[in-house]
Amino acid sequence: MSNFASLPGFRDFYPADLRVRSHIMQAWRGSALRYGFEEYDGPPLEALELYTEKSGEEIIGQLFSFTDKGGRAVSLRPEMTPTLARMVGARAGGLRKPVRWFCMPQLFRYETPQRGRLREHFQWNVDIIGEDDIAADAEVLAVALDALRALGLGAADLAARYSDRRLMERLMLHLGVAPERLGAAYAAIDKLGRDDDARIRERLRASAGLDEAGCDAVFAIVRSEGMDAIEARFGGAEGVGAELERLRAYQAALHDLGFGEWIRFDPGIVRGLAYYTGVVFEVFDRQGRLRAICGGGRYDRLLEQLGGVALPAVGFGMGDVVLRELLDERGLLPAQEPALDYFIVAITEAERPLQRRLAQALRGRGHSVAYALRGAGVGRQFKEADARGARHALVLGPDEAAAGVVVEREMGAGTERRLDIDALLADGVAR
Ligand code: HAM
Repeated sequence: MSNFASLPGFRDFYPADLRVRSHIMQAWRGSALRYGFEEYDGPPLEALELYTEKSGEEIIGQLFSFTDKGGRAVSLRPEMTPTLARMVGARAGGLRKPVRWFCMPQLFRYETPQRGRLREHFQWNVDIIGEDDIAADAEVLAVALDALRALGLGAADLAARYSDRRLMERLMLHLGVAPERLGAAYAAIDKLGRDDDARIRERLRASAGLDEAGCDAVFAIVRSEGMDAIEARFGGAEGVGAELERLRAYQAALHDLGFGEWIRFDPGIVRGLAYYTGVVFEVFDRQGRLRAICGGGRYDRLLEQLGGVALPAVGFGMGDVVLRELLDERGLLPAQEPALDYFIVAITEAERPLQRRLAQALRGRGHSVAYALRGAGVGRQFKEADARGARHALVLGPDEAAAGVVVEREMGAGTERRLDIDALLADGVAR
């Protein structure tokens, strides 16, 4: 036994685990391609500054950062958005707008490992850059929900809760939060449901500068039932009516896209990351027992700050960890698929050269084929065929070889038929 274990919060992907990961990623990629997004990737290691500039205090405290041998301050990527902003910024002139890109990077955050939170995860990112119309916001949420639907989840399992930082900004300014303290107010509100109310109230007082009545108003807003309630109470405040109108257009677009049942306005959603500027959303399981599956929103200033070009942007990240738990809970993990088309059984040592030639002929036609790598009894070979999930066994014995045939056995049904070896070796299985 080795003394080495994997590091806390890091996973080994044994084949059964990787099958699940691939299943999830296939749904992610399939949905992105159906919506016309192109796949990209960037480096897993970046200059530390890329994150310390704009990601926000929570992520900065979780960086896997170090000084490399060249004396550079670097960090493993904790999120993809800064890399995306940098990449698009560097070639902005040559890219067709809006840019519609997706990727599925492995990300690293030094968090306390717990249910739904690890120190590495795979995160599907889908972003539209260069379009500020609400249609882009609706499109990215639709692509996220479509992937979840493809995995077997529905509106009864999940809800996408959304709000808009522009609305929240209007409300916070109305309550007397100073513009430079808005970020602090959002950071406090983002902890709602994860911290107790007293601590959130304390943060609202200390870092957002609100008094007791202001804190009460914030709690009333984030717990209010729907846009009408906010309109009734704050409709007269500057800009609030226009922001609600924009959100209603967003809601209507998602209805058109077929996701009306999946979405719910929730003014408590502000998002923890510092760079969001508009519509923000998170997808949760309806029972509310798991952490967010997905989070995203509009970030219209990040491209200018990190990429040097002023382009509006909107997108999201969906992690594999919570999603896997939810699929598991609902019995939606993929069934173990048979892994092999053929297992070739050689009855005696003499058939082994032919066994290899047959295997190569079948593999050449795209079939998956395996055989015992050392001589073994026929029983053992059939056992292995079964264990490997072979759909067919091809049995080669001295008599068959002499007659130029091989017996194909359907593993499930046990039915057999004889196939011509020359035909198999030449041009395709006669079916
Ligand atoms: P985020 O909310 O930090 O957003 O992460 C998005 C999702 O990644 C979360 O909802 C969660 O499912 C997953 N996730 C994050 N951290 C962990 C972790 N330690 N362990 C397991 N899963 C995790 C962002 O990263 C934004 N950059 C997303 C974005 C893209 N916004 C615009 N474009």
